[in-house]
Amino acid sequence: MALATEQPALLAEPAALRARIQAWRSAGEPVALVPTMGCLHAGHLELVRVAARRARHVVVSIFVNPLQFAAGEDLERYPRTLQADLDALAATDCDLVFAPPEAALYPHGREGLTEVHVPELSTRHCGAHRPGHFEGVTTVVNLLFNLVQPDLAVFGEKDYQQLYLIRRMVRDLHLPVEIVGVPTVREADGLAMSSRNRYLSADERARAAAFPRLLDATVARLQQAEAPAQDVLEAGLDALREAGLEPQYLDLVDADFAAAQGRPEGEHILLGAVQVGSARLIDNRVFRIATS
Ligand code: PAF
Repeated sequence: MALATEQPALLAEPAALRARIQAWRSAGEPVALVPTMGCLHAGHLELVRVAARRARHVVVSIFVNPLQFAAGEDLERYPRTLQADLDALAATDCDLVFAPPEAALYPHGREGLTEVHVPELSTRHCGAHRPGHFEGVTTVVNLLFNLVQPDLAVFGEKDYQQLYLIRRMVRDLHLPVEIVGVPTVREADGLAMSSRNRYLSADERARAAAFPRLLDATVARLQQAEAPAQDVLEAGLDALREAGLEPQYLDLVDADFAAAQGRPEGEHILLGAVQVGSARLIDNRVFRIATS
């Protein structure tokens, strides 16, 4: 492990990355990967802490992956803060940062690239609003898994659908990597930490606090089973609009990601996305509805 306050090594080329990891592998030392797009916040640093508890070496990848941005989204604007990220990682047990240029990861360009597509679920929820997003995610994550060949990889639960799809990809492709999910790190008022929170003006930031609060209120109503789930979700969408947010969706799924109907029971996930000014925010709740 790197000494805390020492900056991790920075590599940009896949061949150099492979050589470094090969040395660890030959010594029988487990490797964890934390894939990120940079602009690191406390949520990412928690992923690194979890990774360091589980593996001798931690690799953090920083790559703003163009494949996962739909047309018209914030690819150009997405904050690139490499030096600040390296400074933040110096206080963690990250050994190595892999920050490749696009040409190193996609040497033959974006067009005609071999892609990994997890069918059906990739086009629901966030996927319905961000065409091609999850194909971009699973393609780059699979590529990073091939390059790093980690024993485990750590992802935040804020991107719950992403985590589920990556687990599914790993299972379907028989990839020898354990996927570890880490609970969402939140601001004091409950807003999930996100690199995109920095797009919010002061007024938008104040309004955004209603998002986690209204998710909690919707969970409480679903648990009380006072109305069919679809009616509770419609009321939740109205409440988000009244709070000055523009909801994209509010969906309830069971543990297998099947849409919940009627008055559901057992473990469920409430998933939502809202637009606040130019920031698109996502969040979720995993909870149980008691058997009546
Ligand atoms: O969650 C993210 O930051 C990205 O989707 C990921 C997993 C790093 C892939 O680019």
